[in-house]
Amino acid sequence: MAPLVNEHASILQNRPVGPGLHLLQLHMPVIARQVQPGQFVHMRIPGREGHILRRPFSIYDSDPEAGTCEILYQAVGSLTSYLPSLQEGEVEAIGPVGRTWSALERFREGSATRALLVGGGVGAAPLHLLARRLSEARLPFDVVLGAQTRDALVCLPRYERLCAAAPACSTDDGSFGFAGFCTPLVEERLAKGCTADGNPYDYVAVCGPEPLMRIVCGQAEAAGAYCELSLEKRMACGVGACLSCVVETVHGKKRSCVDGPIFDSREVVWA
Ligand SMILES: Cc1cc2nc3c(=O)[nH]c(=O)nc-3n(C[C@H](O)[C@H](O)[C@H](O)COP(=O)(O)OP(=O)(O)OC[C@H]3O[C@@H](n4cnc5c(N)ncnc54)[C@H](O)[C@@H]3O)c2cc1C
Ligand code: FES
Repeated sequence: MAPLVNEHASILQNRPVGPGLHLLQLHMPVIARQVQPGQFVHMRIPGREGHILRRPFSIYDSDPEAGTCEILYQAVGSLTSYLPSLQEGEVEAIGPVGRTWSALERFREGSATRALLVGGGVGAAPLHLLARRLSEARLPFDVVLGAQTRDALVCLPRYERLCAAAPACSTDDGSFGFAGFCTPLVEERLAKGCTADGNPYDYVAVCGPEPLMRIVCGQAEAAGAYCELSLEKRMACGVGACLSCVVETVHGKKRSCVDGPIFDSREVVWA
């Protein structure tokens, strides 16, 4: 794992892309070069006294040559509601933090042969860099995306460019794709197998609201697939020192920031 750096990242772009959703493009060459899929940055806005604690955001995409990273964020509280007003200047980002998805390593060693990526809402963001790397390595994978409405499926065009088969989509309001939650689409794919060859998936990665992740983990385990999830615990230090982000696992308490945020689904003890 690359050593953590604290980069002063200049804002190149920060624009709305969907309901409450924004795309932030930052120039942070060291992190852009080192980041692995699923890792995140722990970010603060210099000079904002009200935001003493940093906030964690997954790297949605990175361009190592240009030295840029993108973050897809949802306005939910004080920092993410203020952030859209920043059109220039810089943020401070510690990163890249956390473990990466094990998919690429599993493909390399032969324990994964087909992957299914499942993203709910803004949970599609930490899976996108994984989809990019799988696509570049020409490894077979499919994608299931769920969102509240069609407008909120902001990642879909990017996934469409990376995936051999069109991602399966659901919307809560039925405005696009399957009407309802995306779990029936996951069930169907786990039963039918990979779109390309009909062979069973042996690797599932999921990120999204906790109830969705719980269901998908159960579905993957029942289908005999190895499953990983990205947990979104609230964090303070983000570097393993404060224990504010501990998760109960079958191996005892683990720190979500540095021992996660990616966990083996069989390891997590759900509350
Ligand atoms: C590893 C990791 C990666 C993340 N990646 C992304 C990402 O790519 N895009 C994105 O939009 N968000 C992401 N998040 C969530 C993001 O960190 C929070 O939305 C952000 O910290 C909220 O800050 P705020 O000041 O706007 O909200 P606050 O004012 O601090 O909180 C507002 C509300 O949001 C809730 N909240 C805050 N943080 C979390 C959290 N971690 N989990 C659940 N509820 C929370 C609070 O309970 C509260 O109700 C990630 C979280 C983690 C742990
Ligand atoms: S946030 Fe401090 S140990 Fe994880």
